[in-house]
Amino acid sequence: MLETPYPTIESLYVHVPFCAQKCAYCAFYSEASNGEVIERYTDALVREMELCAHELKPRTIFFGGGTPSLLNLKQWEKILRAMERLQLLGAEEFTVECNPATVSPDKARLLRSFGVNRVSMGVQSLDEALLDRLGRIHSREMVFKSFDVLRKAGFDNVNIDLMFAIPGQTMEIWRATLTEAIALGSEHLSSYEVIYEEDTPLFAQLQAKEFDVDEDLACEMYEELIGRAGGAGFWQYEIANFAKDGPQAEEQVPSSKFQVPEAEFPSRACRHNINYWRGGSFYGLGPSATGYVRGVRTKNWPNTQLYCEQLEKGQRAIESREELSPLARAGETAAFGLRMVAGWPFEDFRRTTGHDLRGEWGDELKQLTERGWGRMAPERFQLTRQGLRFADAAAEMFLR
Ligand SMILES: C[S@@+](CC[C@H](N)C(=O)[O-])C[C@H]1O[C@@H](n2cnc3c(N)ncnc32)[C@H](O)[C@@H]1O
Ligand code: SF4
Repeated sequence: MLETPYPTIESLYVHVPFCAQKCAYCAFYSEASNGEVIERYTDALVREMELCAHELKPRTIFFGGGTPSLLNLKQWEKILRAMERLQLLGAEEFTVECNPATVSPDKARLLRSFGVNRVSMGVQSLDEALLDRLGRIHSREMVFKSFDVLRKAGFDNVNIDLMFAIPGQTMEIWRATLTEAIALGSEHLSSYEVIYEEDTPLFAQLQAKEFDVDEDLACEMYEELIGRAGGAGFWQYEIANFAKDGPQAEEQVPSSKFQVPEAEFPSRACRHNINYWRGGSFYGLGPSATGYVRGVRTKNWPNTQLYCEQLEKGQRAIESREELSPLARAGETAAFGLRMVAGWPFEDFRRTTGHDLRGEWGDELKQLTERGWGRMAPERFQLTRQGLRFADAAAEMFLR
């Protein structure tokens, strides 16, 4: 193995760019699956892992997509065996994103046996008509069945993704979805308001005025989400992310969990994403994946064919590299970290970026506090509940 003078990178993201069918709202890079292309991708990914393994010692791994669960058993086994050979297994947190239509008992057991210990399942809604409207390939029943399959395979850390403010979704439908999703008993919940991404069918429908956007209803749905998640034992630790906090959580916390838990994050919070939000380094492998290593941001070609061609020549498939000034980078890091309920502890910020949050951005912190969007504590700065709602506007203030 090569010697490296640099510290090893502890987070690994792998992008799997295939979906059975493109959903109406989604702008993530993925294409309709095709057996031959997936085989070629699998080999290229193993090659990319070989090129990077010498400086990787992942504590968190996240296979996202696209739909990683679309890969078949043989393809998964090839990837996981390569990771074993390259000593990339053994992460504390190893997540794989799954679509409920593509979870099978064999696949779940295989993943679990190689150390995958967290599954993130794209549910979006439990209303059959909305699932259809969104172009999802699965039914409600498949969600319940897949969740059961995951539990039986030994997964005790499962996330569920939901979306709200979907065209046609009433408050009543949203409440029913929340009730049923919470009743599944997952350890983690991510819930995003629909974003109208350009070049998606949903965006085109919006442009064609096929429906109206009701911002007030979207706000009420978000409030409902926060209330219901809190009441069910979830701590909100980021704008759209909620996690449970070990077996004692229910008796330990009251219904409103908008506060920093003792250990800063609930125990089932996603470590991989916390590393992103807190400005940590990570490798990104696979078509379109971004990475952030030694202050340089890289992006792989968002084109599976080009990606494979590069790796077949023995080269990384990097489309672009960007190195920000340390101050610009610190500004971005400040903005990202403030998406978290725990905000930024000043000492952590200084250790990560080399800059003093109170010194460099003192005026901004003061403005945010005066507006009621921010709260200054002796050891940290955090956005208030109101501030978190305007986190994008708050983030702008930190960019240099
Ligand atoms: C890569 S997908 C999840 C895994 C898998 N591909 C699936 O959909 O079942 C990541 C998540 O981002 C969210 N998402 C994607 N596009 C979105 C959009 N335009 N607006 C809001 N949320 C979106 C969805 O909740 C989705 O589950
Ligand atoms: S939401 Fe998931 S399944 Fe749907 S197109 Fe995007 S990545 Fe694929």
